[in-house]
Amino acid sequence: MKKISTILIICISLLILSSSVVFAAQGDVIKMRLGGDQPADAPGEKGHAFFAERIKEETNGQIEITVYPNAVLGDNKELIEQVQAGVLEMSTASMGWLSSFVPVMDVFSVPFLFRDKDHYWKVLDGEVGNEIAAKIEDVGLKLLFWIDAGARSFYNNIRPIETPDDLKGLKIRVMGSPVMIQTMETFGASPTTTSFDEVFSALQTGIIDGAENNSPSINMMKHNEVAKYYSLDEHMMIPDCLIINLDIWNNLTEEQQEIFLKVSKEAQQFVKEEWARQEDEALEEISKTTAINSINDKTSFIEMVKPLHESLSSQFEGFIEKIQAVK
Ligand code: GCU
Repeated sequence: MKKISTILIICISLLILSSSVVFAAQGDVIKMRLGGDQPADAPGEKGHAFFAERIKEETNGQIEITVYPNAVLGDNKELIEQVQAGVLEMSTASMGWLSSFVPVMDVFSVPFLFRDKDHYWKVLDGEVGNEIAAKIEDVGLKLLFWIDAGARSFYNNIRPIETPDDLKGLKIRVMGSPVMIQTMETFGASPTTTSFDEVFSALQTGIIDGAENNSPSINMMKHNEVAKYYSLDEHMMIPDCLIINLDIWNNLTEEQQEIFLKVSKEAQQFVKEEWARQEDEALEEISKTTAINSINDKTSFIEMVKPLHESLSSQFEGFIEKIQAVK
């Protein structure tokens, strides 16, 4: 099934590619495509649409970006591969998936790394965030802006998670991130990597017992309809971002690059506001089908992953410590 859908995606991509000659001038219009993996109403996807519209306005129609949400061009990993190969100009990218291309990006999957949302944004918007973002240029990509992806919590069909013990033996889906896998193993769960668009059926058929994600993503993908419990432990805050192929970026004029950077700032802010609005609405929706429990005292979870922090510390060029030092 997966093989057939991959072939289909490649065929669709090639069709689109052949009909919209990349970077070829039609008059003076530069056409670009931007792929996403979520439904069009998701905060990040709305951000992509906003970005495309503002770029068109600011360049007086000289640059036209067509947005493809819903993983029609591929899942998150496939999108990154296409942007890296230059067959797709731009896409969304979660750090969880980017870590297969740039291992240092996996620092964002270190559990309980951020103190709170304020800390998360201070890191992303500050020097440390810029330093990490620059790392993706080594693999032929450029990060345009950070996309809020909130905090991730467990949802499953076996029992509510109140302490780390409740995770023992559960088959939990994760992104393609080694640190996510190690974290689940530390909790005694059994991790399995699955693409985002396959989580619904994996939950429905019992291939997995549960997964973990932020509330807007669960709500948008209707995962709550096939999950009994959602337990708000907020163990990870893994941002998404918008990436562009580095050669394509370097081929833009200085003036076009300035417009991209200006519009990127606006789009980041736009998604942040949209996120805040959708997060509460999503929780409300999820509560109609799924029992939600808060975990006010997270000490037992935090204590359990402390040895993991120590063992990972040498892998991330000091970024764990740099992130923690941001006040
Ligand atoms: C979040 C994130 C996506 C990612 C997804 C996943 O929803 O915003 O970019 O693909 O999680 O768990 O795969």
